[in-house]
Amino acid sequence: MPEWLQDAVFYEIYPQSFYDANGDGIGDFEGIRQKLDYIKDLGCNALWINPCFDSPFKDAGYDVRDYKKAAPRYGTNDDLRRLFEAAHHKGIKVLLDLVPGHTSEEHPWFLASKSAEPNEYWNRFIWTDHCFKRAAGLGFIGGESERAATYIVNFFKCQPALNYGFLNPTESWQLPVDHPDCIATREALKEVMRFWLDAGCDGFRVDMAMSLVKYDDPDRRGTAGVWRNIRDMLDREYPEAVIVSEWSYPKQALHAGFHLDFLLDFDGNAGGYRSLFRDYTLDRENRVSGPDRSFFKKDAGGDSRRFFDEYLDHYEDTKETGLISLVTGNHDTVRLGYTLDQKELALAYGFLFTMPGAPFLYYGDEIGMPYLNLPTKEGGYFRTGSRTPMQWSPDRNLGFSPAEAEKCYLPVDASPQTPTVEAQEKDPASLLNTVKALLRLRHREPDLQAKSNLVMLHRETLPLVYRRGSLVIGVNPSGKPAQGSVNLNGRPVYTLGTARLEQGTCALGPQSFGVWRVY
Ligand code: NOJ
Repeated sequence: MPEWLQDAVFYEIYPQSFYDANGDGIGDFEGIRQKLDYIKDLGCNALWINPCFDSPFKDAGYDVRDYKKAAPRYGTNDDLRRLFEAAHHKGIKVLLDLVPGHTSEEHPWFLASKSAEPNEYWNRFIWTDHCFKRAAGLGFIGGESERAATYIVNFFKCQPALNYGFLNPTESWQLPVDHPDCIATREALKEVMRFWLDAGCDGFRVDMAMSLVKYDDPDRRGTAGVWRNIRDMLDREYPEAVIVSEWSYPKQALHAGFHLDFLLDFDGNAGGYRSLFRDYTLDRENRVSGPDRSFFKKDAGGDSRRFFDEYLDHYEDTKETGLISLVTGNHDTVRLGYTLDQKELALAYGFLFTMPGAPFLYYGDEIGMPYLNLPTKEGGYFRTGSRTPMQWSPDRNLGFSPAEAEKCYLPVDASPQTPTVEAQEKDPASLLNTVKALLRLRHREPDLQAKSNLVMLHRETLPLVYRRGSLVIGVNPSGKPAQGSVNLNGRPVYTLGTARLEQGTCALGPQSFGVWRVY
């Protein structure tokens, strides 16, 4: 495990919407470069940049047309290299987004594989052997090629699935994982990784990491084999590089060779994570319907059992192997600021930033950016509302871009009360300053960093109390006071609201949070 992960705090950047340095209405590499000091000052020392490669952008860049070319709308490969250099200069690592499961339907490999004539790329994607064939259990498309067959898609129609083989082939068109053409796919992926690692990036967030080898494989053993092979390559050739999986099942992903796995609501997993922040349903207009029972909602009853039952199960199984990453949100989830107010967010972040593993902060969540109900853009659908421009200041387009508003990638929030970095920087009690204080604390206290030293002290009822080495952390998200017996006493290191650890009891006032050093 690369040492730098111990104290890593990641900042996820959706490049379209972060900062537009050249005034064309869309964010760019230079914009990110200009904001590195802001990110550093915030307390983040690593970035994850969403896909920034050449693409028709039918799925916001998760449909890659050329893995080795930066998307011109963000800049050139050289601009991206300059960004790596500038980030490293400030002690910030950079992860790119690797999309191994599928390409764009416009990728030259796919265009070649559509041809009626067999060629080197014929098996790079998964094709059946007949123009009307239905691929059981897999999404497929027919009628689009000279080749008299249907092909498998991994996500949207525009994303044909790359071929890493089948664990248990049942039909002749299903190649086994050790078929030379499937090995060739894996090796081509390694080439892409080497290309960007040689250019200076520090690793990858890996999209749909569990999706490579096709299915009939509930434990994903086939896919795990591919990743173990790739991890061996990294350990040999790039021992400082890191891979983070979008798998959301640490018990599989970390044993498969990932350094970190997100625990988030994805692929039907991690309902427990949802229960902390988003325990509600959305109607067709993306409005919350019915009750919101999220743990961090002030009046919701504060039940964290679903989360911890799930989390501890994964944690105990993986604590010697890799790290679990908790996130404030991402480009696929409804922003927490949609339903949690600034105080509720502060408590949620107090929890997220004092847990083991390496946390991820989604751009704008540090000021509680809102979720906007917008028409879909680039395949975003309900996700579009979490991808709006970063709110820097009260200026034009909230400081995101000097372009005409109509030219901007997405509109900004029109509400005069909407949070901005500039306003929150001036307010010592703001969410932004709370995030900075929490991250300073995490960097100062090795016991609060990635290491696996978590001991639960009180969790069946409120307050939630846990220990990490010499520190005890207590959280009470509810509007009522709560106390729990923990047989420890401590001196306060950081508190929000009224919080005490005295006479063996953790006593927390309404909506409060505390960190104590045990004595
Ligand atoms: C997960 C990504 O986070 C999401 O944005 C994308 O649409 C799908 N994978 C398909 O690549």
